[in-house]
Amino acid sequence: MRHFISVNQLSEEEIVNILKTADWYCNTGYKLKQQLFVANLFFEPSTRTKTSFIVAQRKMGMEVLDFHTETSSIQKGESLYDTAKTFESIGANLLTIRHPSDCWFDNHLKDISIPIINAGAGKTEHPTQCLLDLLTIYQEFQTFKDLKIVIAGDIKHSRVAQSNAYALKALGANVFLSAAPEFEDNSLDFPYLSMDDAVNTCDVVMLLRIQHERHDEKSRTMNDYLNNYGLSKEREKQMKNHAIILHPAPINRGVEIDSSLVECERSRIFQQMKNGVYIRMAIMTNILQEWGIMNETSIEECE
Ligand code: CP
Repeated sequence: MRHFISVNQLSEEEIVNILKTADWYCNTGYKLKQQLFVANLFFEPSTRTKTSFIVAQRKMGMEVLDFHTETSSIQKGESLYDTAKTFESIGANLLTIRHPSDCWFDNHLKDISIPIINAGAGKTEHPTQCLLDLLTIYQEFQTFKDLKIVIAGDIKHSRVAQSNAYALKALGANVFLSAAPEFEDNSLDFPYLSMDDAVNTCDVVMLLRIQHERHDEKSRTMNDYLNNYGLSKEREKQMKNHAIILHPAPINRGVEIDSSLVECERSRIFQQMKNGVYIRMAIMTNILQEWGIMNETSIEECE
């Protein structure tokens, strides 16, 4: 794994190894025995991803370098490449990047000689979100094989849908999509279900946010969205006893999900956020070890 840009880079074995490392971090005391500098270059708003990277980095004993687009030389016209090259020159050992462009990585960033982790690329990829979703599903079912999983919502503008659909299929799950007609994405080769059929048959209902900020024209009215396409209280009652609800958040309460279901018994939405810290620790460990920046003796197990 040179830079970590897409979940499609990972084999099934590599995904399982990352999940095992995340589980180890979740349950073991440890200390990192070397100084590492890291910068999180976020060009789009974020609460969960950025904060959980920072918590993961601090738990691993890393020095987190300050970067905010509003107070950086981005305001003087500096490019993403020059910003990344500057952090590499100053001594950063690892970068995480979120950017609104679908293909920011193609813009020479592969030539940066420190590892880069994709923290969200336009509407194409969000691989660390995908892995934390996988960890949450695995904790629940201890397998992916033959699980029925529906990804429901604004599929067309979601970077989570694409990463998750292919990874889950590779791991043996049966993946379905569910969306209002204008949010369907027919470039994804998965069958569509109505929300009524999805809640009756699926083990995991993974909801997606309506991404107003990525819509070209003014969005349709969302008044009827919950009843027609969302997870309403009535549809939740139709779910199988063991079925769970996921959502990457942030959530439009009352649009893709009834507000009262966000913290209901079958919701794993806040568990996903908790898992985000451990999965990001595991991904950083994996990539730093592959680059030879960290080795097995860098981490000391302790009480
Ligand atoms: N799920 C997610 O990426 O959330 P943030 O945009 O808050 O990072």
